[in-house]
Amino acid sequence: MQGFSSAPVSEGPLPEIPASGMRKIWTWAVLIAVGGFLFGFDTGVISGALLFIKHDFDLNDFEQGSVVSVLVLGAMAGALGSGRLADRLGRRRLLGLEGLVFLIGTAIAVFSTGYWTLILGRLLLGLAVGASSATVPPYLSEISPTRIRGRVLTLNQLMITVGILVAYLVNLVFAGGGDWRGMIAVGAVPALVIVVSALWVLPESPQWLLARGEHGRARDLIASVSDRDTADRVVERLDRTASEARGPRRAGGRHVLLARRVRPALIVGLVLAAAQQFAGINTIIYYAPTIIERTGLTASNAIFYSIAIGLINLAMTLVAIRLIDRAGRRALLLVSFGVMAVTMLLLGLAFVVGLNSVLALAIMVLYIAGYAVGVGPVFWTLIGEIFPPDAKSTGSAASTAVNWAANFAVSLVFLPLAGAIGEGQTFWIFAVVSAAGFLFALRYIPETKDRDFGEVESDMRARFGT
Ligand code: BGC
Repeated sequence: MQGFSSAPVSEGPLPEIPASGMRKIWTWAVLIAVGGFLFGFDTGVISGALLFIKHDFDLNDFEQGSVVSVLVLGAMAGALGSGRLADRLGRRRLLGLEGLVFLIGTAIAVFSTGYWTLILGRLLLGLAVGASSATVPPYLSEISPTRIRGRVLTLNQLMITVGILVAYLVNLVFAGGGDWRGMIAVGAVPALVIVVSALWVLPESPQWLLARGEHGRARDLIASVSDRDTADRVVERLDRTASEARGPRRAGGRHVLLARRVRPALIVGLVLAAAQQFAGINTIIYYAPTIIERTGLTASNAIFYSIAIGLINLAMTLVAIRLIDRAGRRALLLVSFGVMAVTMLLLGLAFVVGLNSVLALAIMVLYIAGYAVGVGPVFWTLIGEIFPPDAKSTGSAASTAVNWAANFAVSLVFLPLAGAIGEGQTFWIFAVVSAAGFLFALRYIPETKDRDFGEVESDMRARFGT
């Protein structure tokens, strides 16, 4: 996806955007990334709410698992369906619609009278989460000038982790009264922010306007953060890039993903999408309080300790943002998978030999730190960098959908599996996946830092021997 000033460097740089224009762009970016915040909040809040819901609605392990994972199932469908809607309605209107679905899903979950209404509310929330996870990154990319696009894009993963942390804090506040409905209800506030900003604050994406032939509106929008002359040049360049990209896309259509030349990128995208989830991250994010409770702590204490996990997730994502353009993607991924493998091995051991809960918590915190510095953010960065221009949107949509599918599988079977073969043994499976992720990254994942697509592609070709 190209940004405002996606011009080849050889044509000379565009003038600096004035401070007032930059402030406007950052305001838009933060408001769009509220979609990422809700992704984090709605996936995180259930961990604490579940401790009380399971008693109120008398849920067995499978039903508890399904309350968590039905959101993920909805997200898969939402991600898959949002691509066409984004093109038909435009990015701004689709985001507003997603905010509305967030609101309705929240209301149904908050006022649910039993298992099935709760499932319906969570399914709607899932549709909104999935659609926004696929809408937010391209929208962010399209409103940002090239120079700050990397930072603007990482705002998404940052807001996901902020959303998770806020969810844990909200859980803590409401845990005293066992008020799980209150926990879920808080999500209505950011959902409302999305609806209001889509209606009155956010601009449409300039690329979408141009694709519809609305050159005047696109020019006005870009001029509102720069000046008329710059706007003319940007529009002219965006037009040219779009028509260059359209050629191969028309020829290949969706089948472009099947082309031989795209195969290495597709394998990297899909394997990393699956590995991010099968290494067990969301068993900790979604079930931390449940896991901690099983080490012998009370529900409120378990929620309190899970905040440590949310904090470290956020803090280490900030570290990743600082390091990603310096150390490179591969270094972060290798360290990350390595730490995750070792800590999952230890966590399994802690459960098998019955170590005390503080130690188990410390190991979980280390595991999260390992994840957040690499596998978490780098996946979302790489799927924007490894696909050729004509397969970029379809390639990253396919990777996003596989990410949600793997997430679904893990969150559905985690509790029953842990019940059947034991928690410790289940964590060992995640250790094996992390070790496999390490080896895969070592062998097949290209470095993308400071490289244009041609260099990334030849690195991938060499790694795959094609
Ligand atoms: C993943 C989510 C996960 C989150 C944790 C994201 O990159 O896609 O599944 O819950 O990271 O921070």
